[in-house]
Amino acid sequence: MPVVVPVAEIDLSAIVRNVRRLRRAAQGGAEMLVAVKADAYGHGLVPVARELARDGVGWFGVATAHEASELRRAGVPGRVLILSPTRGADARRAVAADADHTVCTDDDVAALRAARDAVPRAPDGPLRLHLKADTGMARLGLPPAHARAVADRIDAASDLTLEGVCTHLACADDLDDATTDRQLDAFDAFLAELARDGVRPRLRHAANSAGTVAHPRAHYDLVRPGLAAFGCCPGADLNRFLSDFEPALRLTASVAFVKRIPAGTKVSYGHRWTAPRDTTIATVRIGYADGFPRGLSNRGEARLADRTVRVAGTVCMDQTLFDAGDATPQVGDRAVLLGPGGPRAEAVASLLGTIPYELLTGLGARVTRRYRLDAPA
Ligand SMILES: Cc1ncc(COP(=O)(O)O)c(C=O)c1O
Repeated sequence: MPVVVPVAEIDLSAIVRNVRRLRRAAQGGAEMLVAVKADAYGHGLVPVARELARDGVGWFGVATAHEASELRRAGVPGRVLILSPTRGADARRAVAADADHTVCTDDDVAALRAARDAVPRAPDGPLRLHLKADTGMARLGLPPAHARAVADRIDAASDLTLEGVCTHLACADDLDDATTDRQLDAFDAFLAELARDGVRPRLRHAANSAGTVAHPRAHYDLVRPGLAAFGCCPGADLNRFLSDFEPALRLTASVAFVKRIPAGTKVSYGHRWTAPRDTTIATVRIGYADGFPRGLSNRGEARLADRTVRVAGTVCMDQTLFDAGDATPQVGDRAVLLGPGGPRAEAVASLLGTIPYELLTGLGARVTRRYRLDAPA
């Protein structure tokens, strides 16, 4: 029975190899946290984390308490850092999952203490906190001058451990931008002030993928790459650092209908494409509800029947038409829309004026994930 739904083939071995490359980039002995938030950037939270844990990755970064619980429920070993503060029911879920928590303010700390008091059989031991300071991203965290007092209070509390102090880089993918150095100068100054107060968190961390591959001074004690683990490049400046990384996701969908049309035929919603010659149209079972963006209308490309074919007309919710020219695709043939054997996510994202992150995390729930793992050598 041919598969008609779109399929994302995930090469778990490629992800493992990419993370080994990231380890080599962070040669100074920094611990490795892989960001697996947003369903591991669309690659599948539990299968990805399980395989990385098997290969020795000790930390996973998630966005929500729900993602932390999912990892725990699946029995994935290792530490789980929730990368932003939690409140209320989310904080209780985070505590119950024995996560490491990101905090920015005293209120964030109070929310976690209240959650611990409310969770029956909360894990023993102090809550493990990572204090985020804002050095220039202006997203989460107090400026260092204010964060310092929060750090002092956490450090002095017997029911809390200041496990980490962290910041996030805003422009690390742009090698001409001096912001990264300014941020790291501010972070270093903050760490020095903490040290003067006698506060020495076990882990200092700042580096996303770009920081890991291109900014050695951002490595500190732990690096936090995400996108590069999946073989994609966060920005054109970084291509040379990531040339041997392997895209781990290949998106395919099957041809549902094939027809020959004469020159001048208008196709799909709004008749926004007119056949410039007699041609073959292949209707492929993928649409914007699957995460194949409507912005690819008349522009996107795929590999089908051994050639590159272009989207003809408007991408529909469940189907997309491709101009196959004089090729002879058959119903059931699979078009490669993204990844090895087809267009790179970075190129498709750039066509859309977006980033590979948005494309990968936008793949819909109807896309079946299939996992591949090489046999041990
Ligand atoms: C706090 C934090 N650390 C690390 C990452 C990983 O970033 P990247 O996928 O660019 O490596 C993210 C992702 O946005 C993040 O928010």
